[in-house]
Amino acid sequence: MTAILLRPAVGEDARFLADMLVEAANWSPASRRPRVQVLADPTLAPYVSGWMRPGDAGLVAESPSGDPLGACWFRLFDQSRPGQGFVAGGVPELTLGVSPLWRAQGVGRELLRGVATVARSSGYARLSLSVDRGNFAQRLYVSEGYVVVHSDDRADVMVRTLA
Ligand SMILES: CC(C)(COP(=O)(O)OP(=O)(O)OC[C@H]1O[C@@H](n2cnc3c(N)ncnc32)[C@H](O)[C@@H]1OP(=O)(O)O)[C@@H](O)C(=O)NCCC(=O)NCCS
Repeated sequence: MTAILLRPAVGEDARFLADMLVEAANWSPASRRPRVQVLADPTLAPYVSGWMRPGDAGLVAESPSGDPLGACWFRLFDQSRPGQGFVAGGVPELTLGVSPLWRAQGVGRELLRGVATVARSSGYARLSLSVDRGNFAQRLYVSEGYVVVHSDDRADVMVRTLA
């Protein structure tokens, strides 16, 4: 695997995290949407709006020269305004994206593992996410211990127990 550095995400990463949210939303080449449209989508904007709030945490992967390559972060949602992968209050939901040129080199798996460690050390017992049916990322999540707990006609909600 390429030598990469994982560092904690900070407030100044808001734009890059938004870029990675756009990548996550545009995982399928068949249905890509412009950045502005993704970030205006009320089902997606809440994953990055106002970053970084108390309780937000994540990691940014950087190349040896300091370029950001990908990010994985989690945020708590409220039952009154749940995310797409909401399972319960107190279970943060994660988002994962890697820049196209850096995919399939182990960056996504490293970020996923690192964020599980961050969440565990922050005292969380579980992490959740939503993944569209057909996205190969689901196989990555399964291999990292996530299990499907809910499905609809479009996507699966998955949870990993951290304890
Ligand atoms: C999904 C994503 C985060 C994975 O990150 P990555 O750095 O490309 O993945 P990794 O290199 O860590 O590989 C993880 C596993 O996925 C597999 N994989 C990687 N690219 C793949 C591809 N194009 N098709 C099928 N499997 C692939 C790898 O083989 C690897 O499994 P292995 O370790 O058993 O070989 C990244 O590809 C991405 O940003 N995709 C678009 C956004 C997205 O779908 N985000 C998730 C939304 S829920």
